[in-house]
Amino acid sequence: MDYYTLFFGSILVLAILCNIIEKICSKGSKKLPPGPSPWPIIGNLHLLGAKPHISLANLAKNYGPIMSLKLGQITTVVISSSTIAKQVLKTQDQAFSSRFVPNALQAHNHYKFSVGWLPVCPQWRTLRRILNINIFSPNRLDANQHLRSQKVKELIAYCDKCSQQGEALDIGQVAFKTNLNLLSNTLFSKDLADPFSDSKVELKEVIWGVMAEVGKPNLVDFFPILEKIDLQGIRRRAIIHFGKLFKLFDGLINERLEEKRRSGFMEKSDVLEMFLNITEKNLEEIDHNHIKSMFLDLFGAGTDTTTSTLEWAMTELLKQPEIIKKAQVELAEIIGKGKPIEEVDVSRLPYLQCIIKETLRMHPPIPLLVPRKVEQDVELCDYIIPKGSQVLVNVWTIGRDFTFWKDPLVFKPERFLSLDLDTRGQDFELIPFGAGRRLCPGLPLASRMIPVMLGSLLNSFNWKLEAGIEPEELDMEEKFGITLAKARPLRAIPSPL
Ligand code: HEM
Repeated sequence: MDYYTLFFGSILVLAILCNIIEKICSKGSKKLPPGPSPWPIIGNLHLLGAKPHISLANLAKNYGPIMSLKLGQITTVVISSSTIAKQVLKTQDQAFSSRFVPNALQAHNHYKFSVGWLPVCPQWRTLRRILNINIFSPNRLDANQHLRSQKVKELIAYCDKCSQQGEALDIGQVAFKTNLNLLSNTLFSKDLADPFSDSKVELKEVIWGVMAEVGKPNLVDFFPILEKIDLQGIRRRAIIHFGKLFKLFDGLINERLEEKRRSGFMEKSDVLEMFLNITEKNLEEIDHNHIKSMFLDLFGAGTDTTTSTLEWAMTELLKQPEIIKKAQVELAEIIGKGKPIEEVDVSRLPYLQCIIKETLRMHPPIPLLVPRKVEQDVELCDYIIPKGSQVLVNVWTIGRDFTFWKDPLVFKPERFLSLDLDTRGQDFELIPFGAGRRLCPGLPLASRMIPVMLGSLLNSFNWKLEAGIEPEELDMEEKFGITLAKARPLRAIPSPL
């Protein structure tokens, strides 16, 4: 045998051996899901762009419904189909139920007391139990619904004033202030914002400050190696804002305790009262740190989400005024034209509910859900998701999947009249509130706040766009941030029905 035959023959044998060994080994250690090749250091960060939900939806067209990217140092797995979302959020929920905690939330150790950011552990279970039983159960919500009803009446009074003057309203601003007050009254029977003016700015501004810092893209979240440096100063500013907010919450707690000391008993039906009852009687293992972190979570999770839903709903309706007419017919028949809507009425308003589902399908406020994290290597769809990976579920693209939805890009509430799907985390084609053990606990409250506000706006006024803007010209540009908001504010003019 000559030298060349021996040389090439050996290489051939070696290649065959390597192939066999790789096949044997890969039976035990499967690969990451497919994805774009990462660049040195930044990985695939440059592919995210200003609207990551859209960039990721486009990448999924090439790499499939389960793909992996490297965002800086962080291995990120993106799910873009309802079937795999069900696998992650339901079948294998336990393995995917931890959270990827943004660095800013280390301020004042918030993440150590927060229901939104703790991993699934006994402390988290206690907080979720309190939320489910003591705050968001039907009985509790019924008990303090009068506090919210009053706020919706004030919103209508404000719109009435604008209607008399023919003034346009910034729908997002008014909705935000009303949502803030709906929530602050549910939590501690106090207004945080004045829908009629910009007074009472203090707490509102502090909450804005906190949310702005948490919502900023932070290099440290992609390069934990830089943690000590806090390059953008986000953690430093978060410490200041969180500090102010916690001081304000301390003030509210002390004020309530003082009231109790003076009167000898607690008499309010709000959440603070319930929390203090639990801590005073040691009914659960929570203290004032949990109360403050819980308030921060509830404001953070409950105001922007409900506001963006309301603003998008009104935007879609003003684009198709015939839908407003249909909703008004339903409201007139069931509630009576111009009459106030109460939370108990919502279940009798199917078309209004269809409008809200359709809004959440097309404009989910949290388009990638709150990032999950795996604490151990996990096998998913024949791939391995390595320990420490971040997992994103792109509910924005799932809601627009043309293999399931007919005309997915058209806003058509009627589709839900014949489609038995709801948003409670059981139908994975429509999961704006997430699903599984980390399903949004505020869903029962959001399902009251949003329809009552939207229904009240539609049952009290006719709405038109500012002069010079035709419905078909209305811009639908999105802005990705803490929530998927409308990029430019929607301004609309109310007039008497
Ligand atoms: C978590 C959506 C309103 C409180 C979440 C999650 C989503 C979500 C997607 C993460 C779920 C997951 O990881 O699977 C929404 C939407 C809302 C809304 C679309 C309104 C349209 C509210 C309200 C509150 C609230 C009104 C309370 C006042 C929370 C909390 C969490 C959460 C505390 C964290 C739960 C945990 O991690 O265990 N929400 N939410 N949300 N939401 Fe909501």
